[in-house]
Amino acid sequence: MTPKGIRRAVHEVSAYVPGKTIEEVKREYGLSDVVKLGSNENPYGPFPASRRAMQQEVDRLHSYPDSSFEEIKRLLGELHGVSPASVAISHGAGGMLETIARTFIEEGDEVLLPVETYRLYREISRLMGGVTVEIPVTADYRIDLEAMAERITPRTKLAWLCNPNNPTSTLFDPEAYAAFRDRLPDTAWIVLDEAYVEFAGEAARPDAVAELTNHNVIVVRTFSKAYGLAGARLGYAMARPEVIRVIDTVAEPFNANRVGLAGAAAVLREDGEAYVHALEATLAERARLTEALRGRGYAVAESRTNFIFFDTGADASALAARMLEGGVIVRSCASWGFPAHLRVTVGKPEHTERFLAVLDAAIRALRKETVYG
Ligand SMILES: Cc1ncc(COP(=O)(O)O)c(C=O)c1O
Repeated sequence: MTPKGIRRAVHEVSAYVPGKTIEEVKREYGLSDVVKLGSNENPYGPFPASRRAMQQEVDRLHSYPDSSFEEIKRLLGELHGVSPASVAISHGAGGMLETIARTFIEEGDEVLLPVETYRLYREISRLMGGVTVEIPVTADYRIDLEAMAERITPRTKLAWLCNPNNPTSTLFDPEAYAAFRDRLPDTAWIVLDEAYVEFAGEAARPDAVAELTNHNVIVVRTFSKAYGLAGARLGYAMARPEVIRVIDTVAEPFNANRVGLAGAAAVLREDGEAYVHALEATLAERARLTEALRGRGYAVAESRTNFIFFDTGADASALAARMLEGGVIVRSCASWGFPAHLRVTVGKPEHTERFLAVLDAAIRALRKETVYG
């Protein structure tokens, strides 16, 4: 029975369903060697200087972190060419998305988002009493900004735009974005979630700094992906200083931990080489995996992220479940309305080999079942 006294909006929210952990799969299937390609983590992290800094920081865990986050804000400001006052820190990008929802969304506000995107947007918008207006992606799996623009009203308060998009791996069209942005009322805000943008390469996309300077735009980034620090939980936003001041006021105090802060600062200061090496290795592996899947006849979206979204031509949930037996964790995209698509994180070369072998075997087994079962 639901406990009494829970806010009405909470009943509109579904729990976030994370991918299975390696430990869970080992236990459930009696396996000793499991590969997790279900949560878009970076298998090369943490990088050496980052690791050392985090280990040293453990000795200081009896005391609170510097709540002004001075060093990390300065380093991020230097990285992006903005002032430290344009940066806010959070417990993962997820924590920042939630703070943004709490800052902007009022009961009855309309919130625009794609149907097939990062789930948290819908849940936190509804939690705040927002009315979500959800628009399907285009046939080539890009956020449909033209259709979204048609749904703008004077009540539109916020648009969540994930670029590149999770789970479809694509970038949106920058021109359609500019047209969409310019149609929004001046009380509305765009959140550009660039969690995967480091993997996007040279492909055309909005210039984040110009956007936040000239428009009602907040850019969200994370150390969880390209920087290899998912477990350290550190994210950030960039916006005009007056927006950052409000976000920092709404956020809980000390909303990042010492270990994550130390790891993130060290990665920016000293791990440039390891970062580039991991990024290049991931991009090379992404190309190889895309090629291997296309060679098998699968339709693969052009990935601008560290994961690949592809059409298996089969029941993706059954396939993902079957692949667990082979010790490979991937994500079925059925819950996003793509019953035949899988999302697989780009790992190291040996992960690609294992993934392909287990995929081939699972597909064969499923086909046999359909023919004889
Ligand atoms: C698009 C997107 N935004 C935000 C997040 C949350 O990232 P973090 O680990 O920094 O909370 C994720 C995590 O997978 C994501 O895919």
